[in-house]
Amino acid sequence: MCAATSALNRYQRIAPFYDLLDLPFEYRRYRRIRPLLFDGLGGRILDAGMGTGRNMPFYPRGASIVGIDLSPAMLARAARRKPQAGPAIELRQMDVALLDFPPASFDAAVATFLFCVLAEELQVPALRELRRVVRPGGTIRLLEYVRPHGRLRRLGVALWEPWVAWAYGAGFDRNTASHVPEAGLELVETRFVVHDLMQLLTVRVPV
Ligand SMILES: C[S@@+](CC[C@H](N)C(=O)[O-])C[C@H]1O[C@@H](n2cnc3c(N)ncnc32)[C@H](O)[C@@H]1O
Repeated sequence: MCAATSALNRYQRIAPFYDLLDLPFEYRRYRRIRPLLFDGLGGRILDAGMGTGRNMPFYPRGASIVGIDLSPAMLARAARRKPQAGPAIELRQMDVALLDFPPASFDAAVATFLFCVLAEELQVPALRELRRVVRPGGTIRLLEYVRPHGRLRRLGVALWEPWVAWAYGAGFDRNTASHVPEAGLELVETRFVVHDLMQLLTVRVPV
């Protein structure tokens, strides 16, 4: 089974429980970090691997958003979360490594906890697709878990990792930042937002 099919099956299965499983992390950790993704962004924004739409409350005013995800069941949950008022949000089922959008059709793109789910062989193709669809000079922001350095935190991650791999197909070892130059993108900033465990990457599409 290819990596995308296995991710699709997993998220189709987990969609009804996803928000519940993530609830403690969402409220204790992610909610304060998500606004950082959209700092200074506007225009037409792609939310790649949008899941159940947890970024929705933080979309910038006046922006127009296209959210894509591999899993129709996750998108169905996102559709229910769509606010009555606020930015225009379009939802599309799509693989981030095979985007059905013309070149330079977005001003910016974001992805939260997508690249820690993508298999190693999809990291560069997915980054290249984001590069293709975001206009030159546009920004791409990625929020991802990484493997920490401290002994105690490494131990915590080692205990947590089997569950995260089983439930979400995610890993702490993707090191997405190292693939950015290979995809023809410029790494502008790497910022730890939770200890040395969660990274916010700001990447620019070269002009
Ligand atoms: C860990 S969830 C994160 C969801 C959401 N971004 C959030 O912050 O809660 C990962 C999401 O990526 C989606 N996904 C996995 N592989 C994908 C791919 N190749 N293309 C698009 N979406 C994908 C999954 O269906 C899932 O909804």
